[in-house]
Amino acid sequence: MSRVPTTLMTGSSGEIGHGLIERLAAAGKPIVTLDVNPLAPALARKVRKEFTGSILDAQLLDRITAEYEVDCVFHLAALLSTRSEFAPVLAHQVNVEGTLNLLEFAQKVGESHGRRVTFFYPSSIAVYGLPTLAVKAAAGRVPEDAFNVPTTMYGANKLSCEHLGRYYALHYKQLSAGPAAGRVDFRGLRFPGLISAATAPSGGTSDYAPEMIHAAAKGEEYACFARPDTRIPFMAMPDAVDAILRLVAAPAARLTRSVYNVGAFAPSAGEIEAAVRAAFPAAHITTEVDEKRQAILDSWPADVDDCAARADWGHAPRYDFASACRDYLIPRIRERYAPNPQGP
Ligand code: SER
Repeated sequence: MSRVPTTLMTGSSGEIGHGLIERLAAAGKPIVTLDVNPLAPALARKVRKEFTGSILDAQLLDRITAEYEVDCVFHLAALLSTRSEFAPVLAHQVNVEGTLNLLEFAQKVGESHGRRVTFFYPSSIAVYGLPTLAVKAAAGRVPEDAFNVPTTMYGANKLSCEHLGRYYALHYKQLSAGPAAGRVDFRGLRFPGLISAATAPSGGTSDYAPEMIHAAAKGEEYACFARPDTRIPFMAMPDAVDAILRLVAAPAARLTRSVYNVGAFAPSAGEIEAAVRAAFPAAHITTEVDEKRQAILDSWPADVDDCAARADWGHAPRYDFASACRDYLIPRIRERYAPNPQGP
């Protein structure tokens, strides 16, 4: 049992968790994690306690409530967009019911400690649904409140959880006798496709970008499933982690929204391929369009309007596409797959 204010992170073994644990641990924040997959040993050493299990397991959440004084939740666990289309009911259970469990967890913890629990939620560009390529081209940088008509289960799940979060923060049990809302300080970001040098993604529809780069560095062939003119926004993982930490640290009075767009750069698939070829001239990349995944990409915006994030809490990504490749992705990914000189 620990009475030290502690951070709970779900989905901690995933791509965002990897970078976020490093930064929170470096800042000295006690962290407990919950994931169906165990943490990599190097990360496990940085957390106070690792719970291996499901966000759908209410007893496990009760145990965490009993053992730790949680004051901040990073709820990262989710099934990504491609995987969710193959298992929509499971996606709803994990993505929506799982989030409801965590919001309820935060509400109860906030009630019992008599203070607000910060709740960070990663939403996505998948909440948008642009009906045609002509509309997508004309829309340009899409603001938060336009085109909220997703075509995917994952997008519907993310949009629904944005509303659930706002409900818990502002309107929870609005007909009850005493004030019940305000225990959960819900803050969300709609992320573009994220590209990490440390991990390769799985189950997403924006995965063609990181897959192409990681495959080239490993010397493997890659058949890109997106048309060369496909354009959606992306962000380098260190900037995604920075954005989370900035949003969570921002004074509540500065925030004008519960969920913000965050952008960084928006290269086409062809431009990504050209950058990968420039760095790895021997790269073997072909295009084999998957029309169904392509339709999902075509429904996502070409870029996002993130003026509110920049104005309210100082969103300021360090990397544009050229510097993300030159200073982060290419050197770090090269190093990651370099043959070990001492190795066999
Ligand atoms: N990158 C995610 C996906 O492709 C979108 O949030 O599923």
